[in-house]
Order: sequence, then structure tokens, then C-alpha cells
Amino acid sequence: MKKRKTALVTGANKGIGREISKKLIKKGIQVIGTSRTKNGVNVINSYLKKNGFGFILDLKNTNSIPEKIKEIFKKINFIDILINNAGINEDNLLIYMSPRQWEDTIKVNLTAVFYMSKSIVRSMIKKRKGRIITISSVVAYTGNKGQINYSAAKSGLIGFHRSLALEVASKGITVNIVSPGLINTDLIKNLNYFQYKRYLSLIPMKRLGTTQDIANAVIFLSSSKASYITGQTLHINGGMYMS
Ligand SMILES: NC(=O)c1ccc[n+]([C@@H]2O[C@H](COP(=O)([O-])OP(=O)(O)OC[C@H]3O[C@@H](n4cnc5c(N)ncnc54)[C@H](OP(=O)(O)O)[C@@H]3O)[C@@H](O)[C@H]2O)c1
Repeated sequence: MKKRKTALVTGANKGIGREISKKLIKKGIQVIGTSRTKNGVNVINSYLKKNGFGFILDLKNTNSIPEKIKEIFKKINFIDILINNAGINEDNLLIYMSPRQWEDTIKVNLTAVFYMSKSIVRSMIKKRKGRIITISSVVAYTGNKGQINYSAAKSGLIGFHRSLALEVASKGITVNIVSPGLINTDLIKNLNYFQYKRYLSLIPMKRLGTTQDIANAVIFLSSSKASYITGQTLHINGGMYMS
């Protein structure tokens, strides 16, 4: 019998991460879904059923990541697919932004991806196979008032992934980014009516994206159909930005 593939998805308790995980298990892939909290892990375990397990991982605590990944490797042999999905925004204009807002946003959105990838890529190199897919954002390309921290972290991911893609291309590992526009999740729940209307006016398709729109692209990049694609950013934004 063919062994099941395993994917690790960060921030799998809700939003885009949850949708990605659900689609992965439909493809027969077992999922390790991470969450900051016990509650989040319960949510993950309840939809995964026997198709994997939830695991507590606070990405703000970047130094803890290598140990946590070691713990995961005690339970499973190999992670075929790493999906760096979790992210936060702590918006403020530069003049009002606190060092904490800057540092936390860089930590969760960028530094944690360094620790996650470093902790997992070595085993992928040994097996000469693997997929790393990370969620960036349209604001990595366009910039956005009030999001210098978030857009700096998300565009930092672009250089990170291009460089890593070059480092591991000959080892059978692909490294790609999915860059969403405005997606209907809790991440944008703090937008007021006027901000929402303004953003909508910037989207040629005149609708927000759905978690399915993003998850479908992630599933494609994690499949064998995408085996010759590496170092790329796939933009999914209803025409809001075209590269
Ligand atoms: N929604 C959009 O419009 C949009 C646009 C562009 C890019 N993105 C990106 O898409 C990804 C998913 O976002 P989403 O829209 O699905 O947002 P979401 O519904 O707010 O989900 C974010 C996920 O990240 C987790 N997370 C936050 N801080 C964490 C930490 N310190 N440690 C571990 N996990 C943490 C959250 O866990 P908790 O529930 O425990 O906080 C949650 O599972 C993010 O990288 C985001 O930047 C979203």
C-alpha cells in the first residue's frame, strides 16, 4: 500500500489555513495542523478526525520552533509539504507604530518562516523531495498605508523564497509563494465600512476572495502537477495587482 503523504499547516484552526487543511485531507494527505492555543488544537482535531492531528505552536516564540518540530518528528517520519500560512497584522502609521507592533509582526510573518523552513528542509534534502508553500500578501507588492510592518514582512518572504528555491532546486524540493489579495477571513474583520468600500473599489472583480480561492492554488502547488514550478509567486487577487 502506498504511504500517505503528510503536510504541516501553520494556523490551521481557521481562515485560509483551515480551508487548506480540509482540502489536503480530501486529497488523502494527512495533516498536522498547528495553532497557538489548546482551543485551536481542539478545533483542528475535530475536523481532521483520523486524518492527522493538531499541535500547539506559538510562532511568536520563534526560539521554541526547532524543539517543537523535533517533537512532531517523534510522531511522524517525514513532512512532505510545509505550508507556512499563519500570519498577523498589527496596523498603524509609522509615526504611531510601537517597536512591539513592528517586532511581533516581523516575528510571526517572517522570522517564524525561517525557523519552520530550517527545521524541516534538512529532512526534505535527505529524501530529495518536498514542497514549501508560504502565504504572502498583495501588499508585499503594492505597499499599504498603516502596514509598513506587515508589508515589510510579507515582501521579505519573496526574497527568502527565491533564495531558498535556488538552494534546494536540485534536491527535488519546490519553494513557492501564494499571494492573496483581500480574502474574507477574520484577518480583515477590523476594516470599517469606508475602508472596506475603498478596498472593494480597487478590486476589478468587485468581490472579496474566498478561502477556497487561496486553498485551491495551494493544493495545486503541493501536487505533482506543479513539480516544475519553483521560486514563483502565484497572485490571487481578482485583478487587484498584476505582476
Ligand atoms: N485575509 C486576507 O485578506 C489576507 C490577505 C493576504 C494575505 N493573508 C495571509 O493569509 C494567511 C492566513 O490568514 P487568514 O486570512 O486566514 O487570517 P486568520 O483567519 O486571522 O488566521 C490566521 C491564523 O494564524 C494564526 N496565528 C496568528 N498568530 C499566531 C502565532 N503567534 N502563532 C501561531 N499561529 C498564529 C491564527 O491563530 P489564532 O486563531 O490562534 O490567532 C490563525 O490560525 C496569513 O499569513 C495572512 O497574512 C490574508
